[in-house]
Amino acid sequence: MTTQSPACQLLARQDADYRGWLWVAPPRDGWLESGEGLVWSADLDVCAAWQRAGRPAYDALTPPPSEVPGAVLFWPKSHALGAWWVTALNAALPAGTPLQIVGENQGGIKRVPKVLASLDQACRKLDTARRCTLFASRTVGSARDSDAVWQTFTAEGLTLESHPGVFGHGKLDDGTRLLLKALAQSPLPARGKPLRALDVGCGDGVLSAWLAKQGYQVTAVDLNAFAVEATRRTLAANQLTGTVIQSDVYRQLEGTFEAIVSNPPFHQERAIDYGPAERLIREAPAHLVGGGSLTLVANAFLPYPEWLRAAFGDFEVLADDRRFRVYRAIKAWR
Ligand SMILES: C[S@@+](CC[C@H](N)C(=O)[O-])C[C@H]1O[C@@H](n2cnc3c(N)ncnc32)[C@H](O)[C@@H]1O
Repeated sequence: MTTQSPACQLLARQDADYRGWLWVAPPRDGWLESGEGLVWSADLDVCAAWQRAGRPAYDALTPPPSEVPGAVLFWPKSHALGAWWVTALNAALPAGTPLQIVGENQGGIKRVPKVLASLDQACRKLDTARRCTLFASRTVGSARDSDAVWQTFTAEGLTLESHPGVFGHGKLDDGTRLLLKALAQSPLPARGKPLRALDVGCGDGVLSAWLAKQGYQVTAVDLNAFAVEATRRTLAANQLTGTVIQSDVYRQLEGTFEAIVSNPPFHQERAIDYGPAERLIREAPAHLVGGGSLTLVANAFLPYPEWLRAAFGDFEVLADDRRFRVYRAIKAWR
């Protein structure tokens, strides 16, 4: 991968010697990945790329070593998540460690001084170009509890645990609500026991918890480390069990399932990315038993019908409220 994201183009023109620095929540980027240093990220895809390049990668919930000359935080779409990363950096690194924060102007980077001020932390603008801005600050050391941002809310009779950056943070998505209604009205066709269900892109675990409550043996996967932890906490908060794995769609999975259920992703941060949803549908038959089903919800404009037809031959629409559609496809018995 050679793409240099606009934020990395801005960093590449700085005088700073970034050797050995900690890169926090970066995008996939060839310039970064061919350089030096450590990465700290919630994104399995990013961590795996750094590990393939033989460099240390720490997932979001594992603090990195504290002896780094500096850190660069790529400001995320969610300001609450940005604030969490700053708090986590203050806790992980000694006070006074150089901290730079970079992001696209359209992505809310201009709110950084305000967010830092709310954490009693100063910053100054270092540079602006490529529709991006770079701020410089220093870690302040902190006794703030970065765990305090976990939120609990209730929906569909379930207790849900969520973290900034997890899809829908703190509220039930309308598409997910329609999917749950359709699942209740058109129960999953399945034979025999145990009934194994897979939730792809589990987010805060709402679908996993609902399925586990119906008696399914649930496996849940998500690319994002916060989502994996949120789903584990949601299952525990409802006295339910399941296996939760950080995985890029099916990559870390073995075995087959009676049912796959999903509200698939089609965004990566701000960019539209149909790749994971297409793989979810195309590879679903290989992960289903004969007669097993894939049930998913999608914005009505997304091109899922043609992928479902290509993978399964046929499908039905279980619900359609004009905004969202719930599709079900069944793997043929052989
Ligand atoms: C639309 S959200 C659905 C979340 C949750 N199931 C719900 O209904 O509220 C899609 C989820 O897919 C996850 N995701 C994105 N790319 C993925 C990938 N390549 N593999 C697995 N999960 C992915 C996102 O982190 C996000 O949690």
